[in-house]
Formats: sequence, C-alpha cells, structure tokens
Amino acid sequence: MGLENITKKIPLNNDWQFTKNYSDELLDRDCNLELETVRIPHTVVETPFNYFDESVYQMLSGYRKVFRAKKEWKDRRVSLNFAGAGHRASVYLNGKLIGENNCGYTAFSYDITDYLDYEKDNILVVKLDSRESLNIPPFGYVIDYMTYGGIYREVYLEVTDKLYIEDVYLKPEIVGDIEFLTEALKQQEKFKASKAKARLGFETVIKNTSKTNDVSFLHSTILRYEIFDGEMLLNKKDMSLLETLDGAFLMDAKKEGASLKESLELDNINVWDVTNPKLYKVRVSLLDKDYVRDFKEYKIGFKKAEFRDTGFYLNGRKLRIRGLNRHQSYPYVGYAMPDSMQRLDAKILRKELGVNTVRTSHYPQSKAFIEQCDELGLLVFTEIPGWQHIGDEDWKAQAVENVRNMVLQYRNYTSIILWGVRINESVDDDELYTKTNKLARELDSTRATAGVRYLKKSSFLEDVYTYNDFLHDGTNDGVDAKKKVTSDMSKAYMISEFNGHMFPTKSYDCEEHRLGHALRHAKVLNDFYKNEDIAGAIGWCMFDYNTHKDFGSGDRICYHGVLDMFRNPKMAAYVYASVQGVNPVLEISSSFDIGEHPAGMRGNTYIFTNCDSVKMYKNDIFIKEYTHKDSEYKNLKNGPILVDDYIGDAFITGENLSKKQSDSLKKCFNYVARFGMNHMPKEIYLEGIKLITIYHLNYAKLYELYQKYVGNWGGESTKFRFDGYKNGELVISRTKSTATKLHLELDVSSTELVDDETYDVAEIRVIVKDENGNQAVFFNDNLPITIKGEGLEIIGPESVKILGGMGGTYLKTTGIKGKAEVTINMPHGWDKDSKTVEFSIS
Ligand code: GAL
Repeated sequence: MGLENITKKIPLNNDWQFTKNYSDELLDRDCNLELETVRIPHTVVETPFNYFDESVYQMLSGYRKVFRAKKEWKDRRVSLNFAGAGHRASVYLNGKLIGENNCGYTAFSYDITDYLDYEKDNILVVKLDSRESLNIPPFGYVIDYMTYGGIYREVYLEVTDKLYIEDVYLKPEIVGDIEFLTEALKQQEKFKASKAKARLGFETVIKNTSKTNDVSFLHSTILRYEIFDGEMLLNKKDMSLLETLDGAFLMDAKKEGASLKESLELDNINVWDVTNPKLYKVRVSLLDKDYVRDFKEYKIGFKKAEFRDTGFYLNGRKLRIRGLNRHQSYPYVGYAMPDSMQRLDAKILRKELGVNTVRTSHYPQSKAFIEQCDELGLLVFTEIPGWQHIGDEDWKAQAVENVRNMVLQYRNYTSIILWGVRINESVDDDELYTKTNKLARELDSTRATAGVRYLKKSSFLEDVYTYNDFLHDGTNDGVDAKKKVTSDMSKAYMISEFNGHMFPTKSYDCEEHRLGHALRHAKVLNDFYKNEDIAGAIGWCMFDYNTHKDFGSGDRICYHGVLDMFRNPKMAAYVYASVQGVNPVLEISSSFDIGEHPAGMRGNTYIFTNCDSVKMYKNDIFIKEYTHKDSEYKNLKNGPILVDDYIGDAFITGENLSKKQSDSLKKCFNYVARFGMNHMPKEIYLEGIKLITIYHLNYAKLYELYQKYVGNWGGESTKFRFDGYKNGELVISRTKSTATKLHLELDVSSTELVDDETYDVAEIRVIVKDENGNQAVFFNDNLPITIKGEGLEIIGPESVKILGGMGGTYLKTTGIKGKAEVTINMPHGWDKDSKTVEFSIS
C-alpha cells in the first residue's frame, strides 16, 4: 500500500491559550487577544482551600490551540478527542463549529478529517460554558459538590485509516464452573488464582469514511483478534473481510458502521477477582498485509459477577461489598489532575483503606482511575451525572444520552459491576427510568443496573435496589433491614451511602467527636454484615470535598470524608483499614491527655487493629491482652476493641491486695477514670461500699491508690504501650505518652515524574508527629515550601496547610526535565524540623 502504519494517538495537551472571557475573536486566524498559556488538564480558576463560592468557576471561557497537520495524515481519518470538559463545550476548527457537547463528565470526539488544513496552521477553539445555569445534568437545583470548569481531562488526536475500527465491545465470559482451591476460600474474601475455561466475545464496529466507492480492500483486509498473557500469545483469529461479509457490510460500514461478531475460546485462564486482579491484553487490528489500518488495545479480566436476592456473588462465592464513595475533586484545582493523581486515589482505596468497591459518585470518572481499579481488583459502581433534580424534556434527553455514553465508554472495564441509571436521589420518574434501564441493558447485557435513591419502596425498574441508608444516629441500629426498604425482596439490595452528613467530622475536632465518627462507620458496617441479604454498604465518603453554600460547614467544605481533602486518614479510616489483612494496622483512639476530655474523664478509648492480639502496657508493666473476641462489633471483621482496664494486676503485685479486693477496686477505678463519679451506676456504687466495708480499704487509701494508678497529676508521665501481634509475632507497636517534640513525616506519591503527554503531579502528604509517632492532632499551621532546581512548581499556595496535624501539597512538572529538591519547613513548634525530597523529572 505504500502507507506507513498509523501513529494512532497524538496528545494535544500542551500549549493551549486560555481566556476567562470567551470572544469570537479567538476564531480569527490572527487573534490578538491577550491569552494565558496553559496545559491540559486545566481548571478555569484555582480556588482557595475553603471560603470561596461557586460563582468563581462559572464563566464562558475560551481555549485556543494551534497545531499543524502532518502530511502523513492526508489520506487518513483524523478524529479529535476530549476525555472530559466541564460543562458545555462548543468546538470550532478553522472557524467552523464542528460539534457541541453537553456533558461535563463523559468523553466526546469528532471526525475532523474534512476540516483540517494541510497548508496552514489549524486553529482549534473551544468555547466552554461552566455556568451552573445550563439546562443539562447535574444542573437545575442545589448540588452537594462543586462542579468546577475547564478542559480537565486529556485531549488527543487519533489517526487511522479511513477504513477503521469504530468500537469493540468485549464480552469476557467464564464457561462452566470455576475451580476453587478449597471450599473454605469460597466463604472468605480470599481468592487464590484458579483456572477456568473462558470465552471472549467481540462485537466490533467497522466504518469506512472513504469518499470513493473502491472496495478492493475487501480482498486484502483482515480483522485480527489476539489475546495475550503478558507478551505471550494465547489465542488468535483472523477474519478475512471478503469471506465473512456480504454486500450489506459495505453499505453499513459507510453509514453507522458494520457490526461483526466473533469469539475466542481460552482454556485455563486465571479468574479476575478482588484479590487476584488478573488482566489479559487484547488487541483487535484491521490489517492489510503489513499495513495496519487501525488497532485497539485493551486489558480485560474474566469474572462472573451476579447480584442475587441474597447478595452479590463474585466468581460464584458471596462477596460482601464494602466500599466508599469518591468524588473526583482535589484542593485548589477542582477536577483538573493528571492520571497519576487519579490512580493514586484508587491505590489509597484498595491498599490503604482496604475496601473492595468504590462508587464514582455522582458521575463517570477518569479512565485512568478506572484502569487502576481494574489493576487492583477494586469493584466499581458508576453512574450518570446528577443530584436529586430532574429537569425538563431536553434535560432528560441529555440524561439518556449520558447513559449511552457512560455505558459505551466504560463497558470494557472489568472492575465495573453496576450501572447507575437514575439521577442520584431523584424521585421516581418511570418514563425516564424505563428508558435509561432499557438503554443500559441494550448496550451492555453483562451488567446489572441500579439507581440510587433516598426513597423506600420506590418504583423499582432496576436490577439492584440501591438506597442511601442514613438511619444510624450514633445510638440506634446501623442499618434498616432489606425488607423495610426494597420494593422487591426477590432482587438484590445494596446500601449506596451511609453516615456522611449524619456526623461531619474535621481532622482537628475533639477526640470524642473523631472517635464518634469512627464508631458510626464501625456500627453501620457491623450491622450491614449482620444482615446477610444486603449485598453491600458503601460509605459516604472517601475524602472531604468543596461544596455549595447549602451544604458543608459554611466554609464550603463537606467534612464527610474518612480522609481529609489531601487524602490523609481521620480516625474513621482505621475502621476500614483494619478489615484488610495485608498491612498491619494499630491505632489507638486516645492521646491519653485527660485534659482533652470534659471534666478530665477519659471516656472510652478504642483500639483499631487487624492484629490477632494487642498487649497493653502501662509504664512497661503489662495490663491486659486484647483480641477481637473483646470487640462489641461482632459481625465486622477486626472491629474496634474497647480498652476497659488501666490497672492490670498492679494491686496484687504492687499493693499486696487480694484477688477479690483487686477485682472490686479495678471495677470502680476503671469506671471512674472513664466516666467520673457523678453518675455512677448502682453496681459501681455498691462495689465502692463493699471496698470500704468488707475489704477494709479506707477513703484515704482509695484516694492514694487512685492518684497513683489513675489520676497521676504532677507525677511522672504515664506511658501506655500497645504491642500488636500476628501469628505470635510482634508486627506493630504504638506508644502514647506526653508529647515533647514534633517532627514531620512525608508520604510522597512518587519521586520520579514523567512530563510526557502532559504534566505530571506528585502529592506529598504531610503528617506532624510526636516523638512516639503519634499525630499531633491539634497542630494547625501553614508550613513553607521551597523548591531548588528545575522542573517543578507548586499547585496552590506556597505552603503546606496543616489542619489536625496533617495536610499536603501537590507538585507539578513544568515541562523542563531535570532534578528538583522540595523542602517543607516547620519553623516553629517545639522542634524545628524540615524535610527534603528529591525529584527527578524526565
Ligand atoms: C447524600 C447525597 C450525597 C451527599 C450525602 C451527604 O444524600 O447523595 O451526595 O450529599 O448525602 O451525606
């Protein structure tokens, strides 16, 4: 053919010109407007951390990009692709409107073959409307999240032959039974790689945009299907277009596209599962002898996911869905973060928080995020954009269109198990939701539909009833029973949100409050596990987020996260992290500073751990060994354990008291230490009388013992140590004692950044800790950042915002390659500290 193979993807993220005030002058070849040079992902405005409102990002902005078309593209098809732009994008090429997109959360693309100029510069202009007055989802009423604005996901060109692959729908399927290694594993969340027979179905759409009637390609073109394990080819099939197709193909290919079905059989594949996310590489290519007309590559796993009335079943065994909701926002830049940061969130969810599912509330999210979910075994429930409000007919038509785009754009991701086809928490609208369900099922027959509601017993057109269960208020049951909520017991039921606004919690709230937040998550999860017929429970939410005035704490933040905005853990995060078994977790809810508590009473202290047992020591004297048998959260794996003894055997060994005296005294002291003497229950009161009358301990002696073992004002600092054991081995230890020094600890997402298709970002999460490694929860400050070297700049302010002893900063590559040193300084506090991180930028 004499043609070179296609270059396929050409990133178009650099050297855009931007203005906050769109003007048609941008379309002029000789536009003289003063414009700012920006890179994609881009936000129309950087926002402060808090105290700002949604008016700042609402505007009609303009983007302009000048590029040259290469002569090699001439007889090819060129498409222009936007992965996401908030919220209405009108796209012009060389002065002509080539399309308008009305969803800020899905991708869109245009065939620009006929608009390209091969002699002159090509002028690409995007008029971007980020005003919330738009008549498209999610707008129309109040929304509990900021919607931002900008071309915030990548832009690229795709160059293929004019005969090209428009789409491939992959249908991986397990054929027959999955061999589990042992029956016992079925019951657990563990899954050992097991072998199964599989089939990979392909539904390929081929299009021909050539203007000629030449059909000679039929003789030489083949469609090749290949599946690889790493680099090893497992199976391959070639289809000759001539042999397989009839005349209708030619007609169809010229119009909507011609559809072809094929499948590959595979023996002995490794099943994709949450603990074994095995992916295979799939390549579909359209070849003409040695010339590649087009190709598409995917990574795909084989799994069997089913929602039944009794719950969710992955690969034949029941898996309780334990998840968190994720927004796609970040401090300062809203939605505009490159792939590395999107991927980081998936890693935090799966590896640090140990959840097995994420809901992309309330819209489809970045493909990099979903790809990372595929790679990590993190199941995904994704949904169309929207929040409570349903608009007019045009608005609804767009919502249906959003279902189409969501399913078509995401159906080849293995981790997705559920399509959310209702507007989050909207009222019933049978006409609309009959359409959305039908469309999702037509476009993807392999997955269930769901729709998130706050209504009980509402009209149920989906496969899974998904409900936001905000029953728990800290005193009552964790969840409602399935039969109280769903309108059809024969179908699956799942909790799509819980907690959230029921108990907003800041990282610097008092200890009782932070503990209360954690225990609410524990209680809901515990009661969810108790209700075997609830398929899953997805907590609200992963991290704090900026929001509209109607929500949040007045400073435009909803403090609903188990993480703060920089993705640092609040206490509640340890409830989730303790369920997973990979990384040892041991967190003690209290700093043991009694002055932090009302009337100096300790209140309850809990241990959050995934260790088999935790030994507690006071000033190196053993007090008690705790196991999860001591936890009141019986149904939650590794639920929090209450610390109920501060004394141990000290009265017997140190004070020569009898066992009976000691038991009685401990009961009283352990109670009084936690709750004071004002409201002693009868039982404790009687115990006290017993001590004085039967055990002959007088009041002075009791006072002395109390001071020595519990009160301890002015005495030497008390040191509590907790040693966590797994399989008999000490794996983690925590010491709590008076803090006298502070230092910085940094967690850097990556020190090797790649400025390639666009800029890269690293996050430094910063925690201020005392000498025992405990977070300085009341340290609130701004820590200056300095950069030496080249290639990095700070996103947001030039300081790390520390709130509740934790915070973070984001560093962005500038396009210059090299090395840079970033130093974070803590200029005051007990101990000055500074930490430096070296980055390489390639
Ligand atoms: C839900 C809503 C979420 C969030 C949450 C706070 O009603 O779906 O977006 O606002 O409440 O608890």
